[in-house]
Amino acid sequence: MGDHITRPDNGFTPALRWEEPPEGPVLVLLDQTRLPQEEVELVCTDVQALVAAIRSLAVRGAPLLGLAGAYGIALAAARGYDVEEAADLLARARPTAVNLEYGVRRAVEAYRKAPAEQGAAAALAAARALHAEDAAASRAMVEHGERLLAELAPGGGYRLLTHCNTGALVSGGEGTALGVVQAVHRSGELRRLWVDETRPLLQGARLTAYEAARAGMPYTLLADSAAGSLFTAGEVDAVLVGADRIAADGSTANKVGTYPLAVLARYHHVPFIVVAPTTTVDLGTPDGASIEVEQRAGSEVTDFAPSPLGTQAYNPAFDVTPPELITAIVTENGVVSPVTAERLAAVCR
Ligand code: MRU
Repeated sequence: MGDHITRPDNGFTPALRWEEPPEGPVLVLLDQTRLPQEEVELVCTDVQALVAAIRSLAVRGAPLLGLAGAYGIALAAARGYDVEEAADLLARARPTAVNLEYGVRRAVEAYRKAPAEQGAAAALAAARALHAEDAAASRAMVEHGERLLAELAPGGGYRLLTHCNTGALVSGGEGTALGVVQAVHRSGELRRLWVDETRPLLQGARLTAYEAARAGMPYTLLADSAAGSLFTAGEVDAVLVGADRIAADGSTANKVGTYPLAVLARYHHVPFIVVAPTTTVDLGTPDGASIEVEQRAGSEVTDFAPSPLGTQAYNPAFDVTPPELITAIVTENGVVSPVTAERLAAVCR
């Protein structure tokens, strides 16, 4: 991986930034594996370091993976690395979030189209354009999401449940599902944010709680398995989650543990809302069964609390929620509800 540096203490910590020191361009990442204990940045000077950072989840979350992929191509081009090889390495670093492949493709296409001496500049311009588009998409999703919430659960004073991490740490802007929660909080309508721990890598406990605490939200952390009793107690007005890949039929891959929440929400008549940019929709993947779900090392489960030596673990990083359990998918181009292939295709214009 790259070298760690202490982040600049200016109160603002972007999840990722491009820098051009005299020694050559670098991609600087906020190392999410070290949060919330330490805010340190990871400096990637080459594609191998970036691939390692993606695999270890130092940089993670679908929209941010798209940006990392695009800037990774810009880095490869600027440093004279074989861009086609870089594209292959980066796009395969993690298989489920389609944004990664999309970001890589955007920058590679820009690089290929430009005259040779302008290829690196073109790849960087493509990465920067994607970054700006992602920030704009985030703003639009937040607006649509807030409005939808008011329609589905009128009255305000919301108690919202979320899973994994979907805020500014995973986006060029304020994020997806957590971006909506931030807006609700700003308008004084967030009664409580229920934060699932998100085993085994604890993106909820480490990252969503970190973002919620920084924003001064009223939030409560729970073990994933405690969600059922929250629903039974009538303590959840809506579930808001992000997505890593949405298939053409609306099936949604998101962090493992999302599907059980959708089942619970349906049973308890609570809206289950997915918030994701159209860059997460993959019309080339027909249905949920066609989504490749990343399988991660069993040690992420067995090492959490020491298990007997030799214990085997089942550790899919994501699960797939079928469209019939999703009340609405909020994109930057509008809300898809009910979730059908036709309505989803219509927002992916
Ligand atoms: O394995 P991760 O941490 O990259 O998984 C991230 C998620 O599942 C998020 O919920 C998803 O990418 C949506 S991010 C806006």
